[in-house]
Amino acid sequence: MGLLDGKTTIITGVGRGIGKATAEVFVREGAQVLGVDISGAEKDTAAALGGSVVPCHADLTKEEDIVAMVAAAEEAFGRVDALVNVAGTIGGRGGQSSYLSAEEYDLMMPVNLRAVLLACQHGIEAMLRGGGGSIVNFSSVGGINVESMAPAAYMAAKAGVHALTKAIAVEYGRQGIRANVVAPGFTLTELVRDVKSDAIEALKRKSALGRPGECREQGEVAAFLASDRASFVTGAVIPVDGGWSAQLP
Ligand SMILES: NC(=O)c1ccc[n+]([C@@H]2O[C@H](COP(=O)([O-])OP(=O)(O)OC[C@H]3O[C@@H](n4cnc5c(N)ncnc54)[C@H](O)[C@@H]3O)[C@@H](O)[C@H]2O)c1
Repeated sequence: MGLLDGKTTIITGVGRGIGKATAEVFVREGAQVLGVDISGAEKDTAAALGGSVVPCHADLTKEEDIVAMVAAAEEAFGRVDALVNVAGTIGGRGGQSSYLSAEEYDLMMPVNLRAVLLACQHGIEAMLRGGGGSIVNFSSVGGINVESMAPAAYMAAKAGVHALTKAIAVEYGRQGIRANVVAPGFTLTELVRDVKSDAIEALKRKSALGRPGECREQGEVAAFLASDRASFVTGAVIPVDGGWSAQLP
């Protein structure tokens, strides 16, 4: 028996990194997945994972793409049991010169917060049609406390994800919808696995466990939260950071 046997899910950001690994965990646990990305790599992920993943190309900064994403899931699977918002960006210039700037804010908010809000809005409508569901939103330890290497607007967007998710949990709990946050600490993705910069090496050492996270370790927690095993867990922000956020620097 898989943790997610028979569950129909939408996962964003499946092209690479944590989203891709989360899709792998969900399929392993028996879920059907609408795998969403802007890059085109959602097709590769679907091909690698077999018939349980239906690829969906979408730019989550566009509401019409989000509406189409939810419609595609309902068309493919008949209902939406879980929505997992992994897609995000830490792009932009970063650094002190733009630490507090409207430009940085405008780069960070569309994917990291606005897209999450809209995906939840339209995902909840579908979940209510099916009698309830579970939302898992990805943020960052930088949304809990400050990580000096991250852009300020990134951390503000991720803190916004925490408030948004708690608001959804409170508003929709009595209608059978749970909503929780996975807040990753530094996690090895394809992008950074082999990078040898001082900053990356410092990030790798931040956790209390003395190592960075693996993408699969994020997906495992998301799978639990999406499953019926977490039936009394809602409005929670769960750091998956090897204890990074537990310690003073
Ligand atoms: N990797 C880490 O160390 C870390 C730490 C803290 C938080 N996070 C968070 O975890 C999540 C995943 O991180 P990651 O490192 O795997 O990221 P990543 O950049 O490797 O992957 C993000 C995926 O989202 C997709 N995406 C970006 N913008 C999109 C858009 N507009 N529409 C559709 N898809 C879009 C990308 O194409 C990509 O496939 C993000 O929300 C990130 O902020 C990651």
